Amino acid sequence: RGDGYGSRGALIVLEGLDRSGKSSQCRMLLSYLEGLGHSAELWRFPDRSTSVGKMINEYLSDKSQLDDHTIHLLFSANRWEKRSLMETKLKMGTTLIIDRYSYSGVVFSSAKGLDFEWCKTPEIGLLAPDLVVYLDILPEKAAERAGYGGERYEQLEFQKKVSQCYKLLSDFSWEIIDACQSMEDVGKQIKEIVLDQVMACKKGKPLSNLWP
Ligand code: TMP
Ligand code: MG
Repeated sequence: RGDGYGSRGALIVLEGLDRSGKSSQCRMLLSYLEGLGHSAELWRFPDRSTSVGKMINEYLSDKSQLDDHTIHLLFSANRWEKRSLMETKLKMGTTLIIDRYSYSGVVFSSAKGLDFEWCKTPEIGLLAPDLVVYLDILPEKAAERAGYGGERYEQLEFQKKVSQCYKLLSDFSWEIIDACQSMEDVGKQIKEIVLDQVMACKKGKPLSNLWP
């Protein structure tokens, strides 16, 4: 309806280690929701298409070196540059499925040793997701998956630290799903909980900001 009265889309975030299967699950979820007639879009962070995103891409592919604080703030800026469009889409009734969000921002930087609270600060005021789905996988298992090691952070020892930081940041509201199951089984579980949220948002669940 787009009138702001009880018909907004849901903000759904998928998080997890590199190669935990987020991107595939996001795509499956999108076609599932569209198949049911819901308006939905798939977004991802970093969004490498913007000028900030291009700087992030160069950093991740080892073509540039940046101070840890600097790259942290660029990742955050990359979310801020999409915030108003995000709010508009949600209020128009479109559900957004997001492949990584502020949680990746905090855990990847704090895994490098940056202060946890400092890492959270630039995220304050971004839209809070209605649901965070965490695809849980042992770092060793993720490392066996095809394509691993292509980018800067895809190294086993570092991903072990990332995994610990995710555990520090996660809370009871996250849906933790065993990502070592078959793609179909993981998908089935995600679909159920996401649909619940989509319906709750349609019925008027209010939007809020980070950090709740
Ligand atoms: P991607 O593999 O999902 O495209 O993400 C690229 C890498 O960037 C991945 O290793 C996680 C990392 N990352 C951060 O360090 N901070 C962030 O805010 C985001 C969104 C991703
Ligand atoms: Mg990756």
